[in-house]
Amino acid sequence: MIYKKTFGVPEKFVPTYFAPEPKAGIADMPDEISEKITFSVSKRGCRFLIPIEADTAFYGFGLQMKAVNQRGNKITVRCNADPKANTGDSHAPVPFFVTNKGWGIFADTARNAVFYCGNELNRGLRSSDFNAVGESEFIDNTRDLYADKIRENATLTVEIPVAQGADIYYFTGDRIVDIVSQYNMFSGGGCLPPDWGFGNYYRCCGRYNEDEVLAMAKSIREQNIPCDTLGLEPGWQTRSYSCSYVWSEKFKNHKSLLEKLIGMGYKVNLWEHFFVHPSSPIFDDLLPLSADYYVWQGLVPDFSFDEAQRIYADHQHKLVEEGVYGFKVDECDGSDFTGGWSYPDCAEFPSGMDGEQYHHLAGTFGAQTLLKAMGGRPTYSEIRALGPLCSSYPFVLYSDLYDFDDFLRATINSGFSGLLWSPEVRQCETKSDFVRRIQLVAFSAQSLINAWYYDHQPWLDFDAADDVREMFEMRMRLVPYIKKAFVRYRDEGVPPVRSLVCDYKNAKHIEDEYIFGDMIVAPIKPEQAGREVWLPEGEWVMLFDGGEYSGGFHEIKTEKIPVYYRKGEKPEMAEVSQYLPFE
Ligand code: GAL
Repeated sequence: MIYKKTFGVPEKFVPTYFAPEPKAGIADMPDEISEKITFSVSKRGCRFLIPIEADTAFYGFGLQMKAVNQRGNKITVRCNADPKANTGDSHAPVPFFVTNKGWGIFADTARNAVFYCGNELNRGLRSSDFNAVGESEFIDNTRDLYADKIRENATLTVEIPVAQGADIYYFTGDRIVDIVSQYNMFSGGGCLPPDWGFGNYYRCCGRYNEDEVLAMAKSIREQNIPCDTLGLEPGWQTRSYSCSYVWSEKFKNHKSLLEKLIGMGYKVNLWEHFFVHPSSPIFDDLLPLSADYYVWQGLVPDFSFDEAQRIYADHQHKLVEEGVYGFKVDECDGSDFTGGWSYPDCAEFPSGMDGEQYHHLAGTFGAQTLLKAMGGRPTYSEIRALGPLCSSYPFVLYSDLYDFDDFLRATINSGFSGLLWSPEVRQCETKSDFVRRIQLVAFSAQSLINAWYYDHQPWLDFDAADDVREMFEMRMRLVPYIKKAFVRYRDEGVPPVRSLVCDYKNAKHIEDEYIFGDMIVAPIKPEQAGREVWLPEGEWVMLFDGGEYSGGFHEIKTEKIPVYYRKGEKPEMAEVSQYLPFE
């Protein structure tokens, strides 16, 4: 069930204001739930207190990369690329979490809300009310000192800055997957990309000209490495930081290039971001609809205006008409950790939004605008920021500045918040790193090699073409299976890639495996030959060698990626093809 209650006076610019129509019913919050929520307003904004149990676990808050269960942590949902610690900074922060206690909460805000997942309130007790006799033991390390010791009387505190109130949506359900699915239906249902989107992606070096792109396309086909989408990085334009959205001289025959690539089965995807260079033909039209800061000397359009979306989309649509099948929308997140190049939180947008709010919604606006540009042509594109209520957009989050553990955690966590994530592969230091990453990406929402600064195929560094072919062929075989999972995402909201704890209540301690469709994936880390794998109750079959296992722990050694389907539920497999038809 989904229940709603308005506390105080909500702000105008909130995620639901811009979101698609919900596909789930919403009831008024009954008293027995709202009585548990203590609400107050102060100069700082507003605050919600909710009692929690000693063993309540918290999952979600968007694309978090540094932890899975956030119990005891302070999470500030703030749009920021390249987070360094478990602060809540994320490409896709979402003020939604789910607990292991049959409930979850979405706070309808575009602010940097702070979630304190387990503090203890001063209940006004006298010293004699405590059992505080005896000495405490000296602890000589901060890990144990700061470990979550709050066991009883704990409280969740949600603080929303600036706002004098917010709508709170309270979700209930048996398993976590039931709650997350409702959140996704509330967001408009999951996306269903075209079949070719489930194939493999290769992004070419940004320095390439049209001949080099064509040579790369041919070389991939010659090696029989299945590839559907070929991405062009910033260099396709005359200007890219900020963007002109005009083909560069290096691509003066781009129409014929696109024709040739289409003839070879490639869907071309163009890199861009939203900062509009003065040489762009849409600069002057967007000027009155833009924020009061430049980024990289470019305008920051206010896409909360339909008119701004239209101007931008009409221009990009010309590229679509020329034969483009998708976009990679870069840098709509901002990053305090790698240069701080974005607009400030106090930036003013002509709609009345400030920079803090716009950061939370920029990805949403980006996806909406580019879908308009596609003009109905199906796409499965990339975007570097998203936010609340985004499950219906066929855009996958990505970024490359992470290690294997972060990539894996993002894969696991993305499904708690209606997000899709690609642990994209680029150049690696060792063959093992490369191969283990290829294995992970082939079992993710989008199978992508991002060679944006690399002038040759990264597999050539390690003589690893066979490894890539094997995994990319497996991906092609699994397309019907992946599609089925996405149909369920669209119709029922079940995330195609999700944490084990979503479906299996007893999997709380398994934070390095995940569910893909309904299969269990237990990736092996680089430089490791094996790992301990936990399987839920029942009988399981390993996808790559047909080995049979019962539920429980197993020591597995393999060069492949351990993937298991439930006995009797072997995935439907397609014939391997180098690419899938256009849709
Ligand atoms: C980065 C992005 C890379 C690549 C690069 C091009 O921000 O994450 O994937 O596209 O920009 O300049």
